[in-house]
Amino acid sequence: ALPRRTPVVARTPEELAALRPGSGRIALVPTMGALHSGHRSLISAAREHADSVVVSVFVNPLQFGPNEDYERYPRTFEADLEVCAQEGADVVFAPSADVMYPDAADGVKDFGQVVTVNPGAMGEVLEGEFRPGFFQGVLTLVNKLFNLVRPDVAVFGQKDAQQLAVVRRMVRDLCLPITVLAGPTVRDEDGLAVSSRNVYLSAQERRSALALSRALFAGAAAVGSGPDGILAAARSVLGDGSRARPPVSVDYLALVDTRTFAEVGDGFTGDAVLVVAAWVGETRLIDNVPMTL
Ligand code: PAJ
Repeated sequence: ALPRRTPVVARTPEELAALRPGSGRIALVPTMGALHSGHRSLISAAREHADSVVVSVFVNPLQFGPNEDYERYPRTFEADLEVCAQEGADVVFAPSADVMYPDAADGVKDFGQVVTVNPGAMGEVLEGEFRPGFFQGVLTLVNKLFNLVRPDVAVFGQKDAQQLAVVRRMVRDLCLPITVLAGPTVRDEDGLAVSSRNVYLSAQERRSALALSRALFAGAAAVGSGPDGILAAARSVLGDGSRARPPVSVDYLALVDTRTFAEVGDGFTGDAVLVVAAWVGETRLIDNVPMTL
């Protein structure tokens, strides 16, 4: 497709404010850049629900643990701009870390962020257990973006199901006047969920990584057999913990209530999501499949 007009880049809150349209609905698509087909689908969904679309591109240091991949996270800003142009974004908000965390300094806790958004118990299970502080970092940054962009609509991917659930909960609990929309998980043809971190995988690791989506699809196919049957079906593909086939090592596999992320038991009816996180070599991947019980 021919590139549409290049979006305007704002680097500071002031530049962003100057670009704010006088009327019409605004949609925000928060990203960390390294944009791929999953992000594209969210930008395109955002266009359908608003008159102007802002894409934020910011690798948020507050959501990375001390031993995580903040430094080596892929940064591909020129290509990201091209994607935003092709998908019809109007504004790309790409602040520096200094702009988002002006009080950061060496040895200062939480990049100088004194007041943070605490996700509560929902932020302590599953991803939150394996990545302490992760959801607090996400919610704090997303709240800042909401306040700077003041969107009517914000679009998030189902790919990060727990992130979607905690963002929805923040919007509800803090009465934020924003409609959260979810875009379905975009997958490669073989089923692997598209992710910025897939670039870390060797060809062989990429084949091993298919165990995640295959396990989830097996679980979804067993939806009629209840929570235990669903989990057993998924485990029969993936293994579990030390029984997973190297280089795959499972952090968790769980069936949870979509809204609360509490594990569902026998007799549960409603919307649930089968979630998995696993290491493939040195790369940590997450995936999920929603289902109705
Ligand atoms: P990032 O990983 O860049 O993802 C940005 C958005 O794209 C998220 O809402 C995510 O769920 C969505 N996404 C990623 N892969 C997808 C796929 N295969 N299909 C559909 N959507 C997909 O998530 C973050 O950034 C950050 O935590 C952020 C919300 C920007 C806060 O820093």
